[in-house]
Amino acid sequence: MKTPKRLQPLVEDGLVDEVLRQLMSGKEATVYVVRSGGEIRCAKVYKDAAQRSFRQASTYQEGRKVKNSRQARAMEKGTRYGRKVAEEAWHNAEVDALYRLAAAGVRVPTPHLCFEGVLLMELVVDAQGNAAPRLNDVALSPEQAVAFHDALIEQVILMLCAGVVHGDLSEFNILVDADGPVIIDLPQAVDAAGNSEASAMLERDVDNLAFYFGQFAPALNGTQYGKEIWALYQAGLLHPGVKLTGQVAVDDTPVDVQAVLAEVEDVILEEEARQRYLQSAE
Ligand SMILES: Nc1ncnc2c1ncn2[C@@H]1O[C@H](COP(=O)(O)OP(=O)(O)OP(=O)(O)O)[C@@H](O)[C@H]1O
Ligand SMILES: [Mg+2]
Repeated sequence: MKTPKRLQPLVEDGLVDEVLRQLMSGKEATVYVVRSGGEIRCAKVYKDAAQRSFRQASTYQEGRKVKNSRQARAMEKGTRYGRKVAEEAWHNAEVDALYRLAAAGVRVPTPHLCFEGVLLMELVVDAQGNAAPRLNDVALSPEQAVAFHDALIEQVILMLCAGVVHGDLSEFNILVDADGPVIIDLPQAVDAAGNSEASAMLERDVDNLAFYFGQFAPALNGTQYGKEIWALYQAGLLHPGVKLTGQVAVDDTPVDVQAVLAEVEDVILEEEARQRYLQSAE
């Protein structure tokens, strides 16, 4: 096909030999099948910030680092330079997450590079060599649903062990190749340790899985793998292959009301004493 404008710089630099066809135009990117380095690969061309939705929200940005404080200030002020820095940070976040996760053994497309707002990566294919379908487009038996759910929970654990929470995991951001689910679409991925919303996002990702697979295998409905995984992570007990129950014990130890009241009383007395001291010192 005629080379789309956004892919021209990559063709000129010899990073892409030929653009074969458009694969998909999503909300936030257009994806092409290309020939590059003697292989068929996939080029994800990011759309402009204005066309992006909720994932640009500040909760996702927390804990992300830019190169220096000048860039941070420019981003805060929203200057043209600042917006450019923010765009690059967004593009790099996906390729960085892919490198980190691939190294940790997570099933993600192998990244090749990110250049001029284009991510070049492995094209995930099905058993016939065609672009792999999204999970949402695959019919599942109850047994397959449970097997895929378990495989994805293991992937979520591997990701968290590598310090990453996907943040937008759903049947639309999972492809199915001949060996099972492959996770894609990571520009919004958050740093598990550096983002205060990470636990809520992890729980939401895992609940999305239970809800989706629960349609095929109702036993998965109401499971609490997300909470369980986060509790283990926080306790430093999370590792690949860890045995999970899907349930979280409710803490039903009776509350010692007297002890709580005594504690409150202590704080009040302490504050009164402090005030008296301050007044006498005036
Ligand atoms: N590495 C890949 N291999 C095969 N297909 C891919 C790959 N990456 C993306 N796709 C296809 O392109 C679609 C859009 O990709 P992606 O989800 O990363 O972008 P997006 O713009 O955020 O999409 P959406 O807004 O629809 O979630 C995917 O649903 C998938 O069908
Ligand atoms: Mg997507």
